[in-house]
Formats: sequence, C-alpha cells, structure tokens
Amino acid sequence: MQFILSQASLNDYSGQAIIVPLTSKGEQLAPAKAVDKNLNGFIEQILSSNDFKAKPGDCQIIPVAGGPRLILMGLGELPMTAGAFIKSANAAAKTLKASAALDALIDLAGVEIQEQNQDWALRQLTQAFQNSLYHFDECKSKSEDDKPATIQTLNVVAAADKQVHLDFGQAVGKGMAFTKKLGDLPPNVATPSYLADEADKLATLSDKLTTHILDEDKMEELGMGSFLSVTKGSIEPGKIICMEYMGGIKGDAPHVLVGKGVTFDSGGISLKGGAGMDEMKYDMCGAASVLGTMLTMIQLDLPINFVGVVAAAENMPSGHASKPGDIVTAMNGTTIEILNTDAEGRLVLCDALTYTIDTYKPASIVDIATLTGACMMALGGVNSGLFTENEDIAGELLTASVVSRDSAWRLPLQEEYQELLDSNFADIANIGGRLAGATTAACFLSRFTKGQKWAHLDIAGTAWNSGGKNKGATGRPVPLLVNYLAAKV
Ligand code: BES
Ligand code: MN
Ligand code: ZN
Repeated sequence: MQFILSQASLNDYSGQAIIVPLTSKGEQLAPAKAVDKNLNGFIEQILSSNDFKAKPGDCQIIPVAGGPRLILMGLGELPMTAGAFIKSANAAAKTLKASAALDALIDLAGVEIQEQNQDWALRQLTQAFQNSLYHFDECKSKSEDDKPATIQTLNVVAAADKQVHLDFGQAVGKGMAFTKKLGDLPPNVATPSYLADEADKLATLSDKLTTHILDEDKMEELGMGSFLSVTKGSIEPGKIICMEYMGGIKGDAPHVLVGKGVTFDSGGISLKGGAGMDEMKYDMCGAASVLGTMLTMIQLDLPINFVGVVAAAENMPSGHASKPGDIVTAMNGTTIEILNTDAEGRLVLCDALTYTIDTYKPASIVDIATLTGACMMALGGVNSGLFTENEDIAGELLTASVVSRDSAWRLPLQEEYQELLDSNFADIANIGGRLAGATTAACFLSRFTKGQKWAHLDIAGTAWNSGGKNKGATGRPVPLLVNYLAAKV
C-alpha cells in the first residue's frame, strides 16, 4: 500500500472513494461542507435522518452515482481525544478494506485532537491503515475466496512537507505486521533457528545492519550455564541473535533492545496445564517486537546506533531437561537455584543481558519479555509493565508510550523485594514465591544489569489477544519502542 500526499479537494477526486470526516455535534468541517454542497445536501440529509450518528468508530460507505464512493467517518465532538481519533481511523481503514475500492482520498482539515497536532494524526492514520492490511493466512491450504482486495493507495490531503509523517506511520505499521506474523506462526515453524534466519534476511535489506549469531557451542565457551539450562531439554538448538544496526556516529555507544524469544514455553519439567497451552507459542513476542522494531528502523533509515538482541530457546520437558532443584552458573558467575523450570524467561535473558553489556557497553538497554502471568493479572491487556530504577529511562519510555498510544505503566522495583529471591543453596533462586511475581522477576533481571541505564518491559498481557476468534498477536510494543528510539535522533 502506498501513502501519497495530495493537495486535491475531495470534490475533484477521480478515484474510487473519498473519506469525509464528520462531527456529531456543532458545525461540520470544511471538507464535509464542500462535499455536501457538491452533492446537493446529501450528507446533511443523512445526518438529520439520524441513521448515521458520527460517533468515533461509526463508519459507513455509500455508493454515489457517477462519482467515487462516499465513506462517512464519524469523529464525535471536537476536539476529540487521541483514543477517539485512533478508533475513527481504524474504523475508516476497516470500512475501506472491506469495500471493493482500491484507493481513496482523505482530508483531515480541521480535525482537532486533544494534546496532539496534525503530524501526530498523520502518523496514527497511516499506522491504522497499514495495520488494517494484516492478515495471517500463511498456514491455510487454500486461499480464501471472499478475501477482500488489498487497498493500493491512500491519498492524504496535507502540506507538501508532511510525507515524513506518512512514512513514519507506515514503517511502524510494517514493523508491527512483521512482529504479528512471527508471533502468529506456529511453534513448529517459528523456532530459534527460524528467528535467526529472519534476522539474517533483515540484514539483506540494509547496509547498516549486520547480524552475529551465537550457537550453543559458543554459549558453552562463554559460560552461559543459565541460558543453556533452558534449551538443553529441547531438540531445537538455542540461539542468541545479535543484530547491529549502525546508522549513527561510529564509536557511539548503541542503544540496545533485548527480547525474550522462548519459541514455545511448555513449562519444562514444571509442566504447564493443557488449557490454552498453544498460546505459549507467543512466548517469543518480546523477540518478535525487537525484530519488528529493527524492520521499522531500517525503513526509516534512522541515524542511530541500535542493537537488537534475541534470546531464542524452546522450553521443553525431556530426559535432558533441567529439574527443580538444579543449580546452574550464569555467565557473570551468579549461581541460580532453579526452583521452577517454568520461570525460564529470566534464565535465558540474564545471560543475554550479561553478554550484551560486556560486548556493546550500551548507552541504554531495555529488555522486552512475556515474563509473568502476574503482570498480565495486574495490568490486563491495556498496559505493558515497566520496571526500572533509572528515572531518565522511565521518563523516556513513558513519554514514548503516551505519544505512541502503546501504553505502559510503571510497577515497583525496589530493594525491599530483592530478598524474596534468597536461596538456601545458591546465590539466588529463579522464583520469589507467590507474592509480587512481576516484581520479583524484574528483581532477578536487575541482578544482571547493575550500574546500567536499564529498563524491563513485561508484555505478558499486551503482546497477544487470547482465545476464540480474537486470538492473535498485537504487534505491541513496537510503536512504543520505535518512538523511544526515534526520540534519540
Ligand atoms: N511465559 C510465561 C509467562 C506468561 C504466562 C505469559 C501466561 C503470558 C501468559 C513465563 O515463562 C512463566 O511461565 N512464568 C511463570 C513464573 C512463575 C513460575 C514464577 C508464571 O507467570 O506463572
Ligand atoms: Mn514459563
Ligand atoms: Zn515463558
């Protein structure tokens, strides 16, 4: 799909559809008035009939004899909230996609959004339309007959210097689609080796990107006893995938994202229950968000040094698997008593974090992980959990979460929780008991990131939608991460 700036008026459009934003109260906007005049009061008639209420999310397509289709896009009252604008944009995208029209012109002139400007609206609009195209049919044997044709072009009325915002929204949408696809792929396809191949494929898209992949022999050599304790129960070899995007000044310390890439989490010997276990294919969504963010960075060609690291492993029970009670030594020398093999995310991440810090001496480091059911219970599907003791990075990530509308909420990570990880037999245990589960997981990771500008995002509740027809990856927190990195340029 292409997003093209236009200075045309809706009445002059000779394509297949025009999208007309309408308010539910007060005066209509200039583009609506102009179209209404051209159609001899047709829009006014529809509105006064009360059939179309023009609330955010209301959207209706109407055929017009001898002209482009009319897509009525409800806005509600102005100035509208940012959330209402996104709802309206998503509805317009969905309506256009479901129609047979392959192109449209939209004019947002006069659309006022609380606390946001037109540039923001253009980015969100493009992201919504790009997102509407996502469709996972990789594993269907036949193509679906009723599949709507793909939208080819959205023309957007805005000044000539606004293309950067359309490009930004589109790049974020493409990154999200890549993240969703990796998440939605079945776990017999999206293995650690598959993720490594996808990283290598990304590297063919940009001269700025090179990959560097650690196999288990190398991890053995580096003393990554914690990572290896997870992957040893599986026949799929584990990988630590490093993607180095060097777009900034040579020698500048990179910003690093580290993603949990457990391509299937059965729980290991501490086996999970059967219900919904298929969803543990999504336990690599942190990794998928790092790969998706990398794709967006490549598209935007941002001048920044950015490293994406993926800790990829499968957590399986077998005769080779770790047992509760096993004690292993992490790369930084910390001994860990594995009291529950289902707390595997922190075990793969801690060695990836140590390696990242040793190798890249990062300017900042954020890990992204579907780490705890406790975080999902606390925050649901609305917010990702943010944990850090560094106020600067907390502020940067929270700002990015507000701007991108990809929300995060800060949860505590303080000294007093650390003792919950005490072990009778090793330096630390890998679980902290029944209480404060999301925080004790973050405490565990904090033992490996001392002195760093580090934050942890727990995306257990936000990375995918569960169950039924709704089941599928969300592409979060790619918008948050891209905005966080883009603010560094
Ligand atoms: N991947 C899971 C966390 C998870 C569970 C995310 C459900 C989303 C939905 C993680 O590896 C895990 O199993 N965590 C355990 C930790 C516990 C054993 C301390 C959990 O949350 O139950
Ligand atoms: Mn687990
Ligand atoms: Zn897990």
